[in-house]
Order: sequence, then C-alpha cells, then structure tokens
Amino acid sequence: MVVSTLQKARYKYKPKLPASLEGEITDIAVEFGKATEAPADREAIREIFQLSYGKPVVSFSRGKKNDNLSKELKVGVILSGGQAPGGHNVISGLFDGLIHGNPASRLYGFLGGPSGLIENRAVELKAEMIYEYRNTGGFDIIGSGRTKVETQEQFAASLDTAKKLGLNAVVIIGGDDSNTNAAFLAEYFLEKGSSIQVIGCPKTIDGDLKNEYIETSFGFDTACKTYSELIGNIQRDAHSAKKYWHFIKLMGRAASHIALECALQTQPNVCLVSEEVEEKKLSLNQLVEDICAAIIKRSENKEDFGVILIPEGLVEFIPEMKLLIEELNDALASREKEFAILDSFADQVAWLGGIVSGESYRLLKSLPHDIALQFLVDRDPHGNVQVSRIETEKLLIGMVEKRLAKHKADGEYKGKFSPLGHFLGYEGRCAFPTNFDADYCYSLGYSAFVLIASGVTGYMVNVRNLASKPGDWVAGGVPLTMLMHMEQRHGIKKPVIKKALVDLNGEPFRVFDKARNDWAVKTSYLYPGAIQYFGPVEICDAPTKTLMLEKKGAGE
Ligand code: FBP
Repeated sequence: MVVSTLQKARYKYKPKLPASLEGEITDIAVEFGKATEAPADREAIREIFQLSYGKPVVSFSRGKKNDNLSKELKVGVILSGGQAPGGHNVISGLFDGLIHGNPASRLYGFLGGPSGLIENRAVELKAEMIYEYRNTGGFDIIGSGRTKVETQEQFAASLDTAKKLGLNAVVIIGGDDSNTNAAFLAEYFLEKGSSIQVIGCPKTIDGDLKNEYIETSFGFDTACKTYSELIGNIQRDAHSAKKYWHFIKLMGRAASHIALECALQTQPNVCLVSEEVEEKKLSLNQLVEDICAAIIKRSENKEDFGVILIPEGLVEFIPEMKLLIEELNDALASREKEFAILDSFADQVAWLGGIVSGESYRLLKSLPHDIALQFLVDRDPHGNVQVSRIETEKLLIGMVEKRLAKHKADGEYKGKFSPLGHFLGYEGRCAFPTNFDADYCYSLGYSAFVLIASGVTGYMVNVRNLASKPGDWVAGGVPLTMLMHMEQRHGIKKPVIKKALVDLNGEPFRVFDKARNDWAVKTSYLYPGAIQYFGPVEICDAPTKTLMLEKKGAGE
C-alpha cells in the first residue's frame, strides 16, 4: 500500500491512555457503583429493558491482578452511520486491549455497518491490517452503513451471526440512534438466554451525543478543527480581497455544536445558532434582516466583505419551515406510494396542495425552485429530511440579495454585495484524527475491551475529564438505559438516547454571545491554521473550546 509521508509518520504515534489503563493490563481494577436509573420515564424504560435496566456505573483504576482481563475472547466490531475521525483508533485500541489481555483473542470487523452483522459479512482483523489504519481518518477498514438493527428478524439474524462466529461480544461504534439500537440488541440477547455482550461507543462529528456521563462524541474535535482551518483561510482571503461575503453552511445535522465551536475558533462576522432561532421563534425574514444589518454596518466602514456561518439544520428550527418539514415528512411517510408515481416537480407540488396546511403550501411555493426540490428528496432511514442536501446558504444569499436591493432603493445601503456560498461537511469527516481524537478513540477502544472482559452488557464506554491531559482522564462505562428517555418518533413513544442540542445557558454559547456584536461589525478574524501534531502541547493536544468552556469555564 502506498501511503503519504504524514500517514507514515502518524503510524508511529503512540496514543496516550488514562493512567488507569497504562501499564500491565491485568492490573486494571474494575469497580461497580450503585444501581442506576434512567434520567426520565423510568417506569416505561424499566418495563422495556427488563433484563438490562439499572445496572451500575463501572469505573477503572489500578489494582491487583485481575484474571478476567487475560481471558481469551472473540469480539465483533461495527462502524455505524456517518464517518468520524478516530474510528480506526477505536478499533486499534480494542484490538490492542484484546491482544494484551490474551494473544489468542480475536477481533472480527463487520463489513458495511450493521448490515454486516445481520447478513454475516465479517473479516478477521489481524495485526498487520490494523497497523495500516492506526491514527488515520475514515472508516474504510471495514466500511460503515446506516442500516438499523431494530426489527425482531434483524435481532434474530444478528444473534445467529454472533453465535456462528462464536463471539463473546459485539461493539457498536455509532451515534445516538445506533447506541439506542445497541441497548435493544443487548436486551434481546439476554431474553434469548445468550451471554453475548453488546457494548456501545459514542461517535459523531455532530457533537450531539453528550450528557452528564459522555463529555463529547469522538470526531467532533477533528472535524471542527478542520472546518475552522478552512473558515480561517476563507476569512483571510475575504480580508485580503475585500470583495466577497462568504455564506458557509456547516454539517452537524440538528445541533449547532459544530457551527458554535467553529465560531469560537475563528470569530466570523455572523454565526447563526439554530437552537437560539427556535427559542426566540425567529422567522426567516427576521434572520435575513439581522444579516442585512451586519452587512450594512460593515459597508458603512468600507468593509464590503464578511463571513457568515450557518448550521446545517437551521431550516428545521425556523418555525414556519419546521412546520413545512414536519408536514412533508408525515405526508411522504404515510403516502409514499402515491408520491412515488408523481413524475414531475409540478405534479408533486400540486399533490401536496391538498395535503399540507395552507401556510406550508404557500411557503413551499415561495421557495426558489432548486431549494423546494431539495425539501422533497428521499428521506433518511429514520424518515427525516436530509438537511445536508438543502442548500440553506443559497436560500439565505437569495433572500439577503433581495432585501439589500430594497435597502438600497430606500437609501439605507450604498455598498456592493458579492456573495459566495460554501458547504463544509465531507471535508472534515475523514480527516486524520487530531492527537485528542487519536488518544480519546484509542482509550475508548481499550476501555471497551475492559468492559467486555468484565462481563457487562448494554453499556456505553465512557472516558471523562477530557479537558485535562490524557493521563488524568477517567475511564469506565455507563449502562445505556441510564442515558435513555421516551420520545415521540413518528407518532409512537420510543425509548431513545437524548440528542444534546446547544445549551443557550451553557458557557460556550455565553462566551460567543458576549463577543458576537463586536465580531459582526469589526473584523476580528482568528486564523487557527492546520491541525498541529508536532510542537507545544498547548497547540497540539488542546481539546475544543466547547469542552474547555464546559469543563473549566471562561476563567473570569
Ligand atoms: P452521524 O449522525 O451518523 O454521525 O452522521 C453525521 C453526519 O455527518 C451529519 O452531520 C450529516 O447531516 C449526515 O451525517 C450526512 O449523512 P450522509 O453521510 O448519509 O450524507
């Protein structure tokens, strides 16, 4: 295999582990806390997860010889959902843990995501293969997929595969939905009298799988730093040429964590935060007017350029658009066949006229043709509109252009507006993991091994105290049922792991809010530059600003 010079250099990087996992592997002590409860809807969740509910929190420390850790084990691993930098290191950490515990242990990778488990497509992952993927981005070692393991047939097929391979455990590396499914799979295995364990691992660049016990999902750090480098470069170009307004949409699905973190790292003129838009019930027109106000002010200072960050999920938080999306999701889910036979966009819109509310219908018809079309494309496996496919940046550019023309006609704006649209998403999902993600992921994988060797099932690996150096990180596991509550999904109440949206009372938003009026008018750009691997620790190993602010505060 031909690899880049950096990749070769990164093979040699030795990920750092929490002190509890460093040294002789059989000296890891595993402590079990008290029985736990779900944060809400306890009765309902206990009823659904009768065998796996309420298990204790597990933590690791150093101790005397622990024979469990030298057992010979067979484990299967799945990469589920969107790529996130560091997935290969979770697998490396898991593999190393298994082999350090007992060289006869084996690791299998299921190909193409959860469907690999259902359809029994697996490869054995051996040392040479793992080596080629250490500290690299991507999920290409075994591939990923978005198939959900959720029906009884899929559970039965999964158990069948796991039995055929003689597995002791299955590790599912995924986001909130994949980990919810991991909880169901663990319960199913127990119901069938199987001792095969299921362990989940928190992945997603979106940063929305976090709570009291999971400080951040892996991949968020690298993705934000990659986007911030690109935003910084664009800002510097804007500041040099002084002629363009850049509208940059950022991935992140519903939550605005990525946009907010990138704003903290780059200090753009405007950063929209979907959660704030929802809370203040801001309409599309109000948002456009706010953007125009910044453009007009800057123009008065002879600065006809700027940078605006837009979270991917924005349209779902603007009240009138939220209603439109909900009505479209319902219509397309419940009348899929009728919709499928409509040939043209005009036919689709006419058909919707009799189905969605008058308000939504008028809005759909008022949208530019290309954008309206994007609202009607295929839904994801959960039945939701794919926000990464909606060109919100273009929608805003079009509306701002119109509004500025009006301000010009009224004599309130004299500047020149030349907009450019960008979408940053796939550029960051497979980047080489930062030292933080390389260390964090390796520690997650290693901890997954310790949980498996300790015999627990229905757990998510957790590594905490992440705003400190890796040696001080605290590793262990939490029962998945402790992270669940009941939510209405497509008309049915279901137990799910709650998605964490941006907390408008949290420290990262507060710091942003304090500074943003200045940034809007005065050019205050920061240029973070490329991810650094070699150099001072405070540059190479620093976690995100979000994590630092949440754990250590602004330090005022
Ligand atoms: P996960 O939630 O599976 O981690 O995926 C995150 C994400 O990158 C979102 O930010 C984005 O909306 C979506 O995946 C894009 O999905 P796809 O890869 O199917 O285009």
